[in-house]
Amino acid sequence: MFQHLQAAPPDAILGLNEAFAADTTEGKINLTTGVYKDATGITPVLDCVKQAERRLVETETSKGYLGIDGMKEFRDRARGLLFGTEHEITTSGRTATIQAPGGTGALRVAAEFLRRAFPHARIWCSRPTWANHTGIFTAAGLEVDAYSYYDAAAGTLDAQALLDSLAKIPAGDIVCLHACCHNPTGVDPSIEQWQEISQVISDRGLLPLVDFAYQGFGDGLEADAEGLRALVDAGGPLLVASSFSKNFGLYRERVGALSVVTPDPDTASMVLSRLKQTIRTNYSNPPSHGAAIVTTILGDAELRGGWETELADMRTRINDMRQDLADGLAATGCNHDFSVITRQRGMFSFSGLSPEQVDRLKNEFGVYMVRNGRINVAGVTPDNVGRLCESIAAVV
Ligand code: LMR
Repeated sequence: MFQHLQAAPPDAILGLNEAFAADTTEGKINLTTGVYKDATGITPVLDCVKQAERRLVETETSKGYLGIDGMKEFRDRARGLLFGTEHEITTSGRTATIQAPGGTGALRVAAEFLRRAFPHARIWCSRPTWANHTGIFTAAGLEVDAYSYYDAAAGTLDAQALLDSLAKIPAGDIVCLHACCHNPTGVDPSIEQWQEISQVISDRGLLPLVDFAYQGFGDGLEADAEGLRALVDAGGPLLVASSFSKNFGLYRERVGALSVVTPDPDTASMVLSRLKQTIRTNYSNPPSHGAAIVTTILGDAELRGGWETELADMRTRINDMRQDLADGLAATGCNHDFSVITRQRGMFSFSGLSPEQVDRLKNEFGVYMVRNGRINVAGVTPDNVGRLCESIAAVV
């Protein structure tokens, strides 16, 4: 029955965890998936999450289905986090928001909705982008293309090439943008560059789909939303897929949201009906637990304060590790400038290591990273940074 099939290749990111688990190398280091680890190498459950869960155990009265679009309170709070609770977009009713199973689920719902709504539109991703973007969009039937983004030689944003390439995209096409902490490069536009990007998108009549998976991991909850808000200020419609996996540490609970900003409340309710149709024929309705945790924390001043402190602690630890990694590599005297690591933001560093060097790190030292040279800096700890630097120095 299945003889005509061949095994699919392992996933470029998550597939590496299986190889890591099977590796018997002493002191092996896993810097693959974008998951926060504390100084002891553990992905912790946040204190605010534990407290919210205790409350939920006491107060939850039903395990009946949620609505197709999820919990209203969750959707309202998710929107407030993105646009600001007082912003006209949050209060006017012209944004349709659905609860989704993670940021990936939100992107998939967005992609299926867009493919039906705009059957001839292509979606354009940054070069490079998160490996799964192409997979998700292609699986939903969208044709995927790429715009210029990164200057590999300088380790910076190639702002002019980015603007030039956006200006050539046909009107009506979709542009996928990373709101902050660009994955995989860790290189974001400045606010002035976001304004220029927004202007080109608006002038060309392009539709932005913003992937917002790392709010709070760059410079803070509000600062990280500045790019999104520049796109909003340009006045056109846009979509935002947001994730609570990283900033609430709720990876396995699958909690995210998709928001579609439209011109008026009637259009928003029509779009919402289309999103619900897409969801119903896919996973029917979302899981509850993770969204209930987020809703509880965002709705309680004390829990929210605790969350913001824990989020800031995660951000600070990653930035400290960026510095330690860059200093440690410089101290090896190796023939490669890694100072760019301290200028990148969020969980990732695009190291500039070649696929062959990454393979050697895995095979000879048990050091795992994504084959494009992406390092999950959140997996670096005071205990493993020395061995990591020596291993990298040995392959460059
Ligand atoms: C990553 O890029 O490592 C994360 O977003 C996790 C994932 O699903 O790939």
